[in-house]
Amino acid sequence: MAVLTRARAMQAAGRDIVHMEVGEPDFATPEPIVEAGIRALRAGHTHYTPALGLPELRSAIAGYYAARHGVAVAAERVAVTPGASGALLLVMAALFNPGEEVLLADPGYPCNRHFARLVEAAGVGVPVGPETGFQLTAELVERHWGPRTRGVLVANPGNPTGTVIPAAELAAIHAAVRARGGWLIVDEIYHELIYGADEPSAAGLGEDVVVVNSFSKYWLMTGWRLGWLLAPAFLMAAIERLAQNVFLAAPTPAQHAALAALGRRRAPCWRRARRNWRGGATTWCRNCAGWASACRWCRRAPSTSMPTSVASPPTPSPSPPTCSSGPASRSRRAAISAATGPSATSASPIRPRSRACRRRWPGSPPTWPVS
Ligand SMILES: Cc1ncc(COP(=O)(O)O)c(C=O)c1O
Repeated sequence: MAVLTRARAMQAAGRDIVHMEVGEPDFATPEPIVEAGIRALRAGHTHYTPALGLPELRSAIAGYYAARHGVAVAAERVAVTPGASGALLLVMAALFNPGEEVLLADPGYPCNRHFARLVEAAGVGVPVGPETGFQLTAELVERHWGPRTRGVLVANPGNPTGTVIPAAELAAIHAAVRARGGWLIVDEIYHELIYGADEPSAAGLGEDVVVVNSFSKYWLMTGWRLGWLLAPAFLMAAIERLAQNVFLAAPTPAQHAALAALGRRRAPCWRRARRNWRGGATTWCRNCAGWASACRWCRRAPSTSMPTSVASPPTPSPSPPTCSSGPASRSRRAAISAATGPSATSASPIRPRSRACRRRWPGSPPTWPVS
């Protein structure tokens, strides 16, 4: 930031500067997002929102995971924050007690160790180099896990190198952290800026992974100060209390603008999530606890049955989707049931819903306990 201040001063003095000092997009925020922000201000949306964010934005973010990554996330697990920075601070405060340690890649995003320090925890830098693509690996995590270590924070892609952790390696890190009863936090702020590859979101690894993201980079909204996190459902009450105390809520006009950024997506419709999963028809993968055709994480062919923890579909809130809207939806349901077989449809939480039904009940997807 000091270099940026100096560069801006030089620019003001007439020098031609190419900025390479902070992660700022070159372009201004796209017009539809700006317009939505202006409309929100004119409509008087200038008051606090709930601490965890506008319900429709939380729902839209959940919809983003369904449509973009084929991962069903309950809107209740989303917290809208002032940038990824706000999310990282909340996560550190929620997960770590004074004296506990979180492993970080070194070099890495320098603010992370300060977020840890703010809550009297400690960020422990693990030296990384070209041999591991400047990222942590499961082997490094195992080697550096100490008696006070409680978690691992990775950025994928990383800062400052932009390198990506291969999906299988991230799954191995997750397994190593989980085996030690710790937390895996994945900062995906640059995830939409991966070119030439289609990397899965860590949200698909399981509900116990805490995912951080932001509207700053991909949506060109650095100055709007808006990000989010996904956390296990049971942590949300603590995160809400922390958010209320630390910053009350994320900026209201920015949240309305972000709705335009996401194209007013809705909470995941299970059927659409399944359809959008790139790679065609899907089944539940027992190995990675996700929907997959050939599992993106473990690369194994998924089993066709639900894992025992989700064998009986939990009841979604606020009310279960009822799809009683006539012959069209009934025939579609019959077609799906014929295609997937009776056992698949009865064991699956995916419930075919008609368009009318979806409009009436945008709904939350079922949630299941952290395994
Ligand atoms: C890896 C990483 N995480 C988080 C942030 C914070 O982003 P923001 O608070 O603007 O969303 C940055 C900013 O550059 C970053 O590089």
